Amino acid sequence: MNVAFYEKLWMWAAGVLIVAFLATIAVGVAGSALQPPSHVETIDPTKVWTDPRFAHPGATVVVVAMMYAFMPAEMRVPAGRPVTFRLTSADVTHGFQIVGTNGNTMVVPGYISQFTTVFREPGEYLIVCNEYCGLGHHVMSAKLIVEEARP
Ligand code: CUA
Repeated sequence: MNVAFYEKLWMWAAGVLIVAFLATIAVGVAGSALQPPSHVETIDPTKVWTDPRFAHPGATVVVVAMMYAFMPAEMRVPAGRPVTFRLTSADVTHGFQIVGTNGNTMVVPGYISQFTTVFREPGEYLIVCNEYCGLGHHVMSAKLIVEEARP
């Protein structure tokens, strides 16, 4: 088969672009420790408050997102240690972004989101909802206090 020179050139260019795009995903996952959503665990959003997995929000960074707040509104975690967050929504889809860190997940009703991260710097961090969830979306926030780890 005779393929014109310029057609070959464009085919190779397309191939190189595909490899480049896949490489950005690989670098993002492996190099920057980003986590693609992987933990699939479901829950009935109308029974969040009676489900034992969310009976004590706040005890182990278990968070319920709802219009227009996070419960608990203030969380304390130790610095320098892995912290696991488990979240669900009691109504619509929310976001959970710990500003200035790599802690960031979507919170979808019916599912339990989970991620683990380490906070190196003690201090106060703002948590915001980054998925538009209704009229009060812009006031939906919480506070994360990263405390100096006790020896
Ligand atoms: Cu919750 Cu936006």
